[in-house]
Amino acid sequence: MIKKCLFPVAGYGTRFLPATKAMPKEILPIVNKPLVQYGVEEASEAGIQDFGFVTGRGKRAIEDHFDISYELEHQIAGTGKEEHLKSIRTLINNHHFSFTRQNEMKGLGHAILTGRTLIGDNAFAVILADDFCVAEKNQDGVLAQMVKLYNQFRCSIVAIEEVPIDETHKYGVIAGEPMKDGLYRITDMVEKPPKDKAPSNLAIIGRYILTPDIFDILERTAPGKGGEIQITDALLEQAKSGCVLAYQFKGRRFDCGSIDGFVEATNYVYENVYRKNKK
Ligand code: UTP
Repeated sequence: MIKKCLFPVAGYGTRFLPATKAMPKEILPIVNKPLVQYGVEEASEAGIQDFGFVTGRGKRAIEDHFDISYELEHQIAGTGKEEHLKSIRTLINNHHFSFTRQNEMKGLGHAILTGRTLIGDNAFAVILADDFCVAEKNQDGVLAQMVKLYNQFRCSIVAIEEVPIDETHKYGVIAGEPMKDGLYRITDMVEKPPKDKAPSNLAIIGRYILTPDIFDILERTAPGKGGEIQITDALLEQAKSGCVLAYQFKGRRFDCGSIDGFVEATNYVYENVYRKNKK
């Protein structure tokens, strides 16, 4: 069973400056809900109740979002506005949230290692909230699909999607042996390769299931691309000594770490969720 999900949310979000100068990127709303809440809802739908956040300076708003706001609730009690807090209140009531800080931005691998105290010794999920994922109609969310695969294969799994070959420099890119439809056993992985060095156009997106031995591997992983401790380097070691799967998920992903992806996601949710619910 995957019981915990880690959210590394310590990054600076420089692509969204000046919006992210005093506000975490993960609190930017897609229509009327912060990005990070969509991530938590996706994990909750996958059966996870325990959430750990690796935060940093300037990220207090994330902690406040997952806490009760007594004053606000008192003010709107008994009015129609109470309805607007229902989704977050339900999450708060039924889940557990804990937080730790990454003091230095040494990369995603380092952020995940920092979350070790919140995770312990079991396999866990990781969501990068700026990759916003939507399921196909009446189908499981991306993390729920991955949890099902984990229950079958019991090894680390990364979510992948095909990207245009001239965009491989933005992603970790895999090479793998096909196992069955959309599932690969990873044989190689390169962080942000230029297109002529990319082993494929299958890019890792912000959904992972990791077995806990990843922490010991991360401890000894030297800084890689960009001087940061890269999760892809640790996963490659895991793949070489055991097995790591790459799963071409069903659904759609929006790169909300970029302005274009963020605007596309906003338009999508406005048309397909917000306006439909209003009718
Ligand atoms: P990004 O590469 O998107 O970096 O990190 P960023 O700082 O959030 O955004 P830009 O590029 O400056 O606009 C991928 C994920 O890893 C987390 C980020 O919060 C994001 O969810 N991360 C990255 C950390 O938590 N710590 C780090 O040291 C680096």
